[in-house]
This record gives sequence, structure tokens and C-alpha cells, in this order.
Amino acid sequence: MKILAIETSCDETAAAVVEDGVKVLSSVIASQIDIHQATGGVVPEVAAREHVLKIRAVIEEAMKGAALGLDAIDGFAVTRGPGLLSSLIIGYSAAVTLARVLDKPLIPVHHVAGHIYSNWLEQDSAPEFPIVVLTVSGGHNELVLLKENMDFELIGETLDDAAGEAYDKVARLLGLAYPGGPAISRAAEKGDASAIKFPRALNESKNFNFSFSGLKTAVLREIEKFHQENGKLTEKFINDCAASFQESVNDSLSEKLLNAAVKFKAKEIHLAGGVSANKRLRSMVIEKMKVRNLQLKLRYNSNLQYCTDNAAMIGGAAYFLYQKNPQGYSSRAEVFPEPQLNLYSKNV
Ligand code: KG4
Ligand code: ZN
Repeated sequence: MKILAIETSCDETAAAVVEDGVKVLSSVIASQIDIHQATGGVVPEVAAREHVLKIRAVIEEAMKGAALGLDAIDGFAVTRGPGLLSSLIIGYSAAVTLARVLDKPLIPVHHVAGHIYSNWLEQDSAPEFPIVVLTVSGGHNELVLLKENMDFELIGETLDDAAGEAYDKVARLLGLAYPGGPAISRAAEKGDASAIKFPRALNESKNFNFSFSGLKTAVLREIEKFHQENGKLTEKFINDCAASFQESVNDSLSEKLLNAAVKFKAKEIHLAGGVSANKRLRSMVIEKMKVRNLQLKLRYNSNLQYCTDNAAMIGGAAYFLYQKNPQGYSSRAEVFPEPQLNLYSKNV
């Protein structure tokens, strides 16, 4: 089954053609990063206008990349939510139009389900259940148990900021570029991760929730202290602070992931979402698995394109949704974009 998928929930205009949920025939992402760098974050109106300008060319490029005509497409997938309403609407309108004109099923997909299914794309072997997924980006930060396809159970979530949001805010405090994750990670490579002792919130082994707002405040205090004592931030301080912050975030994320994997007797653990692109997070999970002698299959997508927002993950998840209930999807579905869509209510 070949699915054309569209993702416009935030600031990437993306389209992809995915076969049987796993094989990416094409994946096109038009990033708006340059535009949002000027404001240090996404302005919804600006993002929506960019989607309008780019969506058609992005879809055409994805079809060209897959070397297929629209008549070869068996279904159209689109991100239903969560996300910015004005951005979601653009991708949604395109997908609804294509599904209706070509009379093929429209498959609306939860954005986080897409991130979770990014670890099915282009793999040598199919993942085995049960799986504990750490899905973490700018907008969400969750531990999810999958007992079977498309059966999501929330184990833990952030009580305040998502880790990606904390990366973006701390990068801003340190005068680094947007988005903060890659910028912090680059600075951290030159810094000393033990230079500053930052807190690890909700550290008890049975607590699977996260909290990063205290860490953010701790970083702000260190920066203020440095300003008072030394004036302008030095490169060494920025690098050390970035490395120490990154170490604290990754320590919380990896510790809770592994505790959950043990508790829920997972066969596999997956890292998904924009923050899963973080190299230190990956290496820290591997180190801790060795120390604890955990024989688990760890998956993250080595293609960084599938960690951050993309449409291939939406096409992948759509296939598994459709397989579960082929009768549930038609070209005339009356479903609409939902900025606050909940993955854990059973009707998603
Ligand atoms: O999944 P994504 O593209 O969009 C959302 O669904 O939010 O994730 C974007 C987030 C941003 O906060 C960005 O700073 C973070 O992922 N990110 C990273 C890295 N690359 C992107 N965080 C840490 N390390 C990275 N290498
Ligand atoms: Zn995302």
C-alpha cells in the first residue's frame, strides 16, 4: 500500500510517499528555520503563510521523487494534531482535496504517533513488542508503552516543559542559535559536562514523569552569577554550561526510559522526536544499558531527517492505523484538524 503523507503541524512543510509503513519512496522537507531564526521561535501566522507558499511544490517533489503518478497512491495521510491550527489546516486542506478528488481513503494521524512510528522506517528487522518509547521534542516529552501496533499507553510525561523546549530556551539564554538542540549539542562537544552541577528533577526510580523548568531556572541563575562576577559570557562558560545542561537532561531522560523498560518488561526501547537526534542521549542510553547489563534492542533512527518533523513518519503510522481498521477510513471522512489532539483517548 502506497501512502502519500503530508505534515504541516509546526514549521516544516513536508510530504512523503511510504510503502507498507516502512519503505520510504520519497521524503521532502521544506524547513522554515531561516525565517524563524530572526524571531528566535515560530510565529504561527508566519509559519502558516510559508506552508501556503510551499505545500504544492513539496507534494509535487515528493511524487516526482517516488517516480509515481497520483493514480498509484492508495491513500492520503495527514497530521491531524497536535500542532498550530493555522499550520495544520494547510496540510489538511491539501490532503482532503486529494483524497476526495482521487476517491482514496484519508488517514488522519496523531503527530506523536508519527514520531513513534519513525522507528519502523527503513529498518532491517520489524520491531518486537512490548516496546517502551521515549518520544521527546519541542512540543512533547513522553514515555509510551506499546503492547501491539497502535496501542499506546502513557507511562510518564513532562509536568512542565518538554526537553526540546528547555533546549531552545537555554540556547537563547546562552546567546546560541535557534533551534537550540543542535546549537547546544555543538557547544557541548567543546565543554566539560561536569563543570556545573545541575539538578535532576523527580529522581525517584518509580517516578516516570519529567520536569525541566527547575533546570531552566538553575541555568538562568548560573548565567546571572557569571555576569555579576565576570561580565560578558565567555566561550568556555557557554560550552561548559551547554554540556552540563545537556548531561542533566539526558540523565533524566535515559534513567526514566531504562527504569520503565525494566518495569514493563520491554523487548525494545526506542528514542523518537527531535531530541532523539542528540548524540549524547544515544551514547548515554548505551552506556547505562551496559552498566545495568540490560539485553534490550535499542532503536533510534540513524537518519536524522526522521527524528525531527517529517512526513515519512506520518505515512508510516498511517499504514498501521489503516491495517487495524480498513473500513474506518474513506475519502469523505468528516474529521478535522485538532490542535490539542490526545493520543491516549481510544478514538484516535
Ligand atoms: O520533533 P521536532 O522536530 O518538532 C516537534 O514536534 O516539536 O523537535 C524539535 C525539537 C526542538 O526543540 C529542537 O531544539 C530539538 O528538537 N532538537 C534537539 C536536537 N535536534 C533537534 N535537541 C537536542 N539535541 C539535538 N541534536
Ligand atoms: Zn514533532
